[in-house]
Amino acid sequence: MQGPVAEAMKRQSCKATGAARETALHPAGAPLWCAAPRGTKRPGSRFGEKQMDQFKSKVAPADGKLAVLLPGMGAVATTFIAGVEAVRAGLAKPIGSLTQMAQIRLGKRSEKRWSMIKDLVPLAKLDDLVFGGWDPIPDDAYTAAAKAKVLSPEHLAQLQARLSEIKPMPAVFDKNVVKRLDGTHVKKGSKRELANALMKDIRGFMDKHKCRRAVMVWCASTEAYQEAGPEHQSIAAFEKALDENHPNIFPSQLYAYAAIMSGVPYLNGAPNMSCDFPALIELAEKKGVAIGGKDFKTGQTLMKTIIAPGLKARMLGMEGWFSTNILGNRDGEVLDDPANFKTKEVSKLSVLEQILEPDRYPDLYKDLQHKVSIHYYKPRGDNKEGWDNIDIVGWMGYPMQIKVNFLCRDSILAAPIVLDLALFGDLAARAGMKGIQEWLSFYFKSPQHAASVYPEHDLFVQHIRLENNLRYLMGEELINYLGSDYTNE
Ligand SMILES: NC(=O)c1ccc[n+]([C@@H]2O[C@H](COP(=O)([O-])OP(=O)(O)OC[C@H]3O[C@@H](n4cnc5c(N)ncnc54)[C@H](O)[C@@H]3O)[C@@H](O)[C@H]2O)c1
Repeated sequence: MQGPVAEAMKRQSCKATGAARETALHPAGAPLWCAAPRGTKRPGSRFGEKQMDQFKSKVAPADGKLAVLLPGMGAVATTFIAGVEAVRAGLAKPIGSLTQMAQIRLGKRSEKRWSMIKDLVPLAKLDDLVFGGWDPIPDDAYTAAAKAKVLSPEHLAQLQARLSEIKPMPAVFDKNVVKRLDGTHVKKGSKRELANALMKDIRGFMDKHKCRRAVMVWCASTEAYQEAGPEHQSIAAFEKALDENHPNIFPSQLYAYAAIMSGVPYLNGAPNMSCDFPALIELAEKKGVAIGGKDFKTGQTLMKTIIAPGLKARMLGMEGWFSTNILGNRDGEVLDDPANFKTKEVSKLSVLEQILEPDRYPDLYKDLQHKVSIHYYKPRGDNKEGWDNIDIVGWMGYPMQIKVNFLCRDSILAAPIVLDLALFGDLAARAGMKGIQEWLSFYFKSPQHAASVYPEHDLFVQHIRLENNLRYLMGEELINYLGSDYTNE
């Protein structure tokens, strides 16, 4: 971690204390800040409050308006915007959002100290969010939401005035990478010109709406499967490819490039590469911008990363996991094209392998067969139905089966993720955190990660990491659940 928070931590570096021994989750090599020594009276203690305030002041405050820029204003994006407007109007609760609803434990269990996440870390207020975006279809957010049919007409009618004002800017769109869509509301020009036009849009939007900061969350269609080429390996190669109008630079990469160049955090909700290649990772580091991805973790993969770690923790074996689902929204239509489905498939398949570690546990998982399919079935709309059959193996090799039938609503599950990513992405920027934000893996199916390590898929490990990152930013003691204070004394 670098930037003002890390600097603050260096200044606060303290002698190892009893409490410091318990901070096993503290990143190796990073200085320990002055966690309260064992036995220190913490609940409501002046020391605890003062310590928190010192660090809070090192994260720039969330003053002023925050532009939330969304490439792709379809089902997910409009459900997200409508939900925030509904919460602002007192019509709904932000269910599913950690930034709005979750509490976090601070200190030891005996301290009985809890805080709302939004009170612990300085986050932008919902009233300060201003929504903008791009789409090759010119519908305003109300029309797009009505077409997406995620929210009821009664709900939408109450929000119509606000949603109708939000109109997408012309998109950078390439039909070759999203074959099932026809877009008319598009920019023209070379790739270099298109990237420049996006940067101009960002600046123009922020000026027009008097926004102090911006964050971009990719909510557009999944692009066709693509392998990184030489043009993705360094900033210089990528910029040369831009100048040469290289066909292997896809639109989502132009948005990511424009965001990073503009100092705007970029979070990718789809499985396409977008900012997950060396050139843009290097650029994000160089420009000091936070990035993250890929692919919102909702529905079937969310269930997978909840169930699989539990079975593995109990050392139950697994022979197979068969997942299939039907959905009938525009996303399903785009994914009906094999090239676009391949991008999604790669994202969905990686999960079990990492969680179950068949190489480490060959007796339990070496023959595991993992199948995933998605079928576009129009009558179902956004209300996806997923079926999972899990063939597990117990004591002495006896087989068992688990069946999961999840009747979910795709965009209802994705919308709070967009909100949390926007707010945490903005927090990361104000805390001076740059490059890949692995602590946001909690939200992604296929988390972007440092090249030297494997991605973490286990939802519970991801959750601990996210919470500890927030504690770390605020100078709070990291929690490792050792509990030795209560059992060894
Ligand atoms: N809903 C979920 O649970 C979920 C989960 C994980 C990932 N995702 C991903 O989120 C994305 C959005 O899903 P959705 O259900 O809202 O899909 P959607 O089809 O309703 O909306 C996507 C929008 O992106 C637009 N678009 C396509 N290319 C664009 C471009 N180059 N620039 C700007 N806009 C562009 C489309 O016109 C469309 O309006 C998809 O990639 C999907 O795979 C969704």
